[in-house]
Amino acid sequence: MKRARIAVLPGDFIGPEVIESALEVLDAVGSRFNFAFDVERLPFGGTATESHGDPLPEETQAAVLEADAVLMGSAGGPVGDHPWNRLPREKRVETGILKLRRLLKVFANLRPVTVFPGLEHLSPLREELARGTDLLIIRELTGGIYFGKPAHNRPDQGLATMVYERHEVERIARVAFESAQLRGGKVTNVDKANVLDVSQFWRDVVVGIHQAEFPQVSLDHLYIDNAAMQVVRDPSQFDVIVTGNIFGDILSDLAAVIPGSLGLLPSASLGGEVGLFEPVHGSAPDIAGLGLANPVGTILSAAMLLRFGCGQSEAADALESAVQRALADDPPPDLGGGRGTAEMTRAVIAALPESVVAHS
Ligand code: NAD
Ligand code: IPM
Ligand code: MN
Repeated sequence: MKRARIAVLPGDFIGPEVIESALEVLDAVGSRFNFAFDVERLPFGGTATESHGDPLPEETQAAVLEADAVLMGSAGGPVGDHPWNRLPREKRVETGILKLRRLLKVFANLRPVTVFPGLEHLSPLREELARGTDLLIIRELTGGIYFGKPAHNRPDQGLATMVYERHEVERIARVAFESAQLRGGKVTNVDKANVLDVSQFWRDVVVGIHQAEFPQVSLDHLYIDNAAMQVVRDPSQFDVIVTGNIFGDILSDLAAVIPGSLGLLPSASLGGEVGLFEPVHGSAPDIAGLGLANPVGTILSAAMLLRFGCGQSEAADALESAVQRALADDPPPDLGGGRGTAEMTRAVIAALPESVVAHS
């Protein structure tokens, strides 16, 4: 039987709740498709800051590099005044998240936004607008304003720097064009080239890669402000969206409204030797401990882990179909349904195929 080593970073608040759900589901998928996981849970996030003085302790750093894939929940404290938000920047939970992405060299963050057929009614948009949405946001993840230097918070001044090197833009552009070739053949580049030099540079490099290497893929451009409007006005116009770190962060939370909830969106961060799989949402302190967290974003991240981290695309397909059936039956409370985390987990497992022919 094939085995995969998964480093698991549950994190804070609803992080551990959605992670336990996804692990139960992965176990069930493994038993049906004849493979298994060796799971190692590691300290990470605000709780690790409290126990180890570091949101990404040394032992966690070492373990993720040894794993076949990393599955992360979500980390961080409540928005607003909270002791974790008063820590020096290098000890902040969010700094640990950024450090993890850099450590794994996962520069390409894939955030698919799909309205599954039959689930259009879960969207707050009119059903005819939501129908057919199948877009892939490709967010640059290890550069841009999140990492640019100088950066500081001084009594007299706050400073951030947005910087992109040519090779960083070239490689994310290639991921976008290659992805589009396997899908609808269309890339929309999103930037702010009308105002920012760094964005004009970004756009010029994207155009250069397009002309030199992918002329058969269609390419268009939108400014981020218009893109934010277009993505909810007419989501099915999009196939692949490629954009920088901060624009992708904002655009993906916004796009979560199309299928109906942030709790649904998964992500895969690729480009290094070990992939990182995590839901798009945060630690949702407002609903932690209530058994209400929607585990689907994490379960679908586990499906992406199966596809990209373990080469188990058939199992990934089966899991995605099971999620679709469970959601159609009765979704979690964030989508107006009645199934909490545990019930949703059971429903997804019950919707998996019974047994599958032997796989290599
Ligand atoms: P959030 O994503 O945690 O929550 C935003 C809203 O969406 C809340 O109302 C929450 O209840 C709801 N929500 C989120 N996930 C849900 C789910 N699975 N099921 C049902 N409802 C869900 O964003 P926030 O409140 O701005 O941030 C809280 C903390 O999370 C902050 O510390 C932030 O830095 C951190 N964060 C971490 C990650 C990560 O770990 N990758 C991502 C985003 C935010
Ligand atoms: C996300 C989060 C993170 C980001 C934060 C918590 C560092 O919002 O994964 O979308 O901005 O990348
Ligand atoms: Mn975000």
